[in-house]
Amino acid sequence: MISDKLQQQLIDAAATARQNAYAPYSNFLVGASLLAEDGSLFSGCNVENASYGLTICAERIAIGNAISHGHKKFKAICVVADNAVSPCGACRQFIREFGSETLIMLVDSNGNQMRKKFTIDQLLPESFSL
Ligand code: THU
Repeated sequence: MISDKLQQQLIDAAATARQNAYAPYSNFLVGASLLAEDGSLFSGCNVENASYGLTICAERIAIGNAISHGHKKFKAICVVADNAVSPCGACRQFIREFGSETLIMLVDSNGNQMRKKFTIDQLLPESFSL
């Protein structure tokens, strides 16, 4: 259970990171934030490249940021973008790597009105892990 206050902090962190998105090719800005098991927050934004396939999604940047700071288990990830988009398949697998019960919050960037919540098991059932 994640308190409303903490959920709002996650949304704010993702929205702030989204402002730094490097997305000159798609113009689709995404911010993501993570709640680590000890309560610390980490965020990231999408980073595109002229060689389009090298683009890295906001979710994976946020996870890399948290891992770099020594955090490996996450209670929740929040994604802020237009239309509250759902994480791509690669990001789902990446999220799954660091928690089988991670809550995924999808939030619309226009006023934060559209919100959806899933577990990673709902978005990636029968997932691969070692
Ligand atoms: N993108 C993300 O950062 N996260 C998602 O969940 C969906 C897609 C990015 C990748 C690319 O920079 C842009 O959105 C358009 O696909």
